[in-house]
Amino acid sequence: MSNHNKTVLVTGGMGGLGESICTKLADLGYQVVTTYSPGSTKAVAWLSEMKDKGYNFHAYALDVGNTEECAAVITKIQQEVAPIDVLVNNAGITRDMTFKKMSKVDWDAVLNTNLNSVFNMCKPIVDGMVDRGWGRVINVSSVNGQKGAFGQTNYAAAKAGMHGFTKSLALEVARKGVTVNTISPGYIGTKMVTAIPQDILDSKILPQIPVGRLGKPEEVAGLIVYLASDEAAFVTGANIAINGGQHMQ
Ligand code: CAA
Repeated sequence: MSNHNKTVLVTGGMGGLGESICTKLADLGYQVVTTYSPGSTKAVAWLSEMKDKGYNFHAYALDVGNTEECAAVITKIQQEVAPIDVLVNNAGITRDMTFKKMSKVDWDAVLNTNLNSVFNMCKPIVDGMVDRGWGRVINVSSVNGQKGAFGQTNYAAAKAGMHGFTKSLALEVARKGVTVNTISPGYIGTKMVTAIPQDILDSKILPQIPVGRLGKPEEVAGLIVYLASDEAAFVTGANIAINGGQHMQ
């Protein structure tokens, strides 16, 4: 199956990491569909900026935490564009604060967007992959789901939960040509990380990264390209770290 016949859906494709994932996959010939948060004001400008660079992405407003909306928008995408061959669950948010300060609202927001979204997106897509005998699900988790992080009880719980889902679904679809994997990026130079107070980044985080720098979005996108490929057919249920040596298992 050549990439030119494949359609990939990347949630949160207009963010720092998402944009890199979309452009790298498009460069390799995939037809790319992305989703963005319904409240986002930058979609039109982003699409036109990408068009100027030669990328014709399909984009749909979607709250990935809303089960019914996901089912409806995915049906629309599969009718208007094509069935989804590769799903990259990349959309995510942080609401960092110590547990002492965390409200149920902050907990629910992060669990819903970062973990329930994986159910919401896989549910209307995976059966089709199984029926067609080929598919890739790539869940973008985090080093902090593996090791925990100060101020991230909500985020770390959601990201750790993602990998439990990965392993279980991978078992269920392993004989059907569908792989399900997690990747766990460390601190990548995106808005999510640069929003961390500089003193905390300099004193607590950067010193823990043996490679001595933040990761680059294109480095993470390169790993996703591999997992999406035919060559990665024997990799399933894995949690692949990409963190500059910050956490080794
Ligand atoms: N490890 C150990 N101690 C830490 C710490 C850390 N990572 N971060 C903060 N502390 C300490 C502070 O030094 C401070 O100690 P003292 O009271 O002795 O001075 C104490 O905890 C309180 O810290 P703050 O003053 O910063 O407390 P705050 O309530 O204003 O903020 C916070 C708390 C929002 C959690 C803030 O510390 C913060 O933003 N930390 C970074 C959290 C983080 O790493 N987020 C990752 C975002 S990127 C991402 O999530 C992508 C990914 O997947 C990797």
